[in-house]
Formats: sequence, structure tokens, C-alpha cells
Amino acid sequence: MRTVKVSLGSRSYRIRIGDDLLDVLGRECSRLDLGKRCAVITDTRVAPHYADRILRALGAQDFHPRLIVIPAGESSKSLPVVDRCYQELSDHRLDRQSFVVALGGGVVGDLAGFVAATYLRGIGFVQVPTTLLAQVDSSVGGKVGINLRSAKNLVGAFHQPKLVLTDLRVLDTLPPREFRSGLAEVIKYGVIWDPALFRLLERSMGKILSRDRAVLARVIARCCDIKAEVVTQDEQEGGLRAILNFGHTIGHGIEALAGYGRYLHGEAVAIGMVAACRLSHALTGLSRDEGARIVNLLKQAGLPVSVQLTHPRRTRLFEILSLDKKTSGGRPRFVLAHRIGHVLHGQEVPPQSIADTLASLSGSEFNSLATPSRPRSRQQPCPPAGKENDVQRE
Ligand code: NAD
Ligand code: GLY
Repeated sequence: MRTVKVSLGSRSYRIRIGDDLLDVLGRECSRLDLGKRCAVITDTRVAPHYADRILRALGAQDFHPRLIVIPAGESSKSLPVVDRCYQELSDHRLDRQSFVVALGGGVVGDLAGFVAATYLRGIGFVQVPTTLLAQVDSSVGGKVGINLRSAKNLVGAFHQPKLVLTDLRVLDTLPPREFRSGLAEVIKYGVIWDPALFRLLERSMGKILSRDRAVLARVIARCCDIKAEVVTQDEQEGGLRAILNFGHTIGHGIEALAGYGRYLHGEAVAIGMVAACRLSHALTGLSRDEGARIVNLLKQAGLPVSVQLTHPRRTRLFEILSLDKKTSGGRPRFVLAHRIGHVLHGQEVPPQSIADTLASLSGSEFNSLATPSRPRSRQQPCPPAGKENDVQRE
């Protein structure tokens, strides 16, 4: 078993990574200062595989869990589902010592964490991530939240888990498309922080796609190390933590434009990373060669690297970008790369460069980069939006 520590003073916790860890959940929880009543929140796709094992593991250590199964999918990150969970916690008489176990992917983790952050003004929670994306990213760092109809993750909190228990074997049942989606976040860590991880991914993508557990254990632990280091330095995203959003500004925009569910999170982020690479080549000195390596690695991982957007859809995407949480004064801020392993956050980008980059996204080769343009005065980036919806997956 590998252990990564997230050092945050009284909010510190451990990430345990290994095989068959679901069965030791009760034992691990009994080492924490937690009461015996708890709730396990999971979803309709994960529950049939793993809920019984989790309940048994908790019961064996005299915990009294209540199982709450929510519908699988992004639409469960919503106020009505939160309300239902509060009701169940109250029916099960959870108190200030009680805790919530999030058994699932990022949707369950974000929702269950938000419920735990707000119920009785905050109770403990434990993350048991079951998707690759959740294992390398969403289960670590304490960002929890739900969506509003207007945009994703608009309501939330910082609430660190007491423990993250990452069982590599649960990845065996994860559908291939979901697995590939998680690889987008894995590749992101190489780009933002660690050229050696990036090279390992280039060498080992075949083994990773065949879910070789030895390689996966190493890669997942390294991603958690990086996230732990970033979160330790900047828990509440005053600055550095923003680098974790590489590819997310345009990625989130594409998710919203296409309608949630059409693109998986990692797929949209992959296209967003291609856009960020093109902007980085134009504005922050990312070489053509390194940009091409990033795009090629995304392709090797089976992720989309292009999207067809008509002019009206690009205009709509532009509007969505100005609503993004990462805006400042209505202007989206970007994380841009200088080289693989080194990025700059808070980058303001001229509107015309964004418009050119969105236009270039129909091409999948890195060298189709639009020539950078300087901001033009009083310029409308695109004409008013139309109603057609023509975002396509490639
Ligand atoms: P998800 O939680 O929707 O899971 C994907 C699908 O796989 C679901 O249908 C789920 O039921 C199923 N599934 C999960 N584990 C399985 C398993 N082991 N076997 C079989 N099926 C399984 O999606 P996700 O990609 O894990 O997470 C996406 C969410 O995470 C988004 O809402 C995103 O905003 C959020 N996110 C949060 C953070 C953060 O820091 N809090 C970071 C990144 C992403
Ligand atoms: N996934 C972005 C963050 O945790 O900050």
C-alpha cells in the first residue's frame, strides 16, 4: 500500500492507495476520531458492485451505516438531491461526531462532500473514489459542491476529507470511456508540474490503457503527491492552486455549451488543454514540439482533441467563458504553459486570441495553430449567438 499525506495542520489526512482496500474501510475509520453513526452515499451504477462490501467493512467495526443511493450522473449534483440526503441523515440521527462516506466518482464525492460540509454546520467525511478521475483529482483537496442550472460547481465549500481510500481494483469495472476521461487529468499533472511523469505517460500509455495495476499505482500516487503539494501550498486557491485548472476554462465552457453529459469531464478538459496549448504557443512560449507532444499524448489516451464549432456556437462559448468562476472583471483567466512541467496562472488573454483559438479547434494537429493576434479596440469577438447546436464529438 502507498500512502500520500496531505499536510494541512489540524485538517491533515492520508491518501491510502492499494489493492482491495474497500475491505479495510472500517478499520481505517476506527483510527479516526469519528462516531459510530454514518451514511454511505453512492450512486446507482456503483452500488451494485461495491455497496455491500463497504457496509460489511463498516459493520465489522461496529459502525452503523445508512446507505443512500443517488441516480448516477452529473444531474445528481443538485439542490434537490442534497435536500434528500439531508433528510436521510436526519432520519438516521447523525450527530456532530457522525460522518459521511462518499463511494463513487467525482459526482458522488462533490455532492457527498457538500452534504457533509453543510449538515450540522459540518461533519466528517471519507472519500472512497471509484473512478480514475476521482482517484487522481476530485477526492483530494477538499473542493466540494453542486451545480446550478446556469453553470457548474457554482455552490460549494472547501471541506477536507478525513481520509481518502483508493482501491485500485475498483477500476476493473469502470467503463473504458470513463477510464480515458480520467487520463485527461493524469496528463494535466505532467503538463503543469512534472516532466518525468509526462515522459512516463508517453512510455507507458499502452500499459496504462490495459490497466496494469503496478503502473497505475505509481501514476495515481504521483498525481496525488502533486495535488497534495499544490493544496498544501494554497488550500483555498489564492493563487498556485489555479494551475490545477489547466485546460478547464475552455473545457468547462465546452461541457456547458454541449449540454452536461454529452462530453465527459475529462473529454472536455482534453479539448480545453489543446486550446490552452495553442494559446500557450502564441503567448507564453510553449514550443511547437512540446505542444505537439501534449496533443499526441491526449490522442494516445483516446481522448478527443478537436471539436467542430460554427461561428454562432463559438460566440455562445465566448459568452459562457465570461461567466466562468475563473474570470476577473468579466474576463476569463487562463493557465498557460511555458514548457512541459511549468505553467503560469492568472493569464489574461486578448479576446481575439481566444476567438482565433476557438476557430482553430476543428483541426486536430498542433501545427494548425492560429497566428496570435493583438487585442483590437472596441472589437466584438464574434457576432451575436444563433440557436443551432452543432458541437460534435470527434
Ligand atoms: P462520475 O462520478 O459521474 O462517474 C462516472 C460514471 O462512472 C458514473 O456513471 C458512475 O456511476 C460510474 N462509476 C463510477 N465508478 C465506477 C466503477 N468503479 N465501476 C463502474 N462504474 C463506475 O464522473 P467522474 O468523472 O468521476 O467525476 C466528474 C465530476 O467530478 C464532475 O462533476 C466534476 O465537476 C467533478 N470534479 C471535481 C473536482 C474537485 O476537485 N472537487 C475535480 C475534478 C472533477
Ligand atoms: N480540480 C481542481 C482543484 O481541486 O482545485
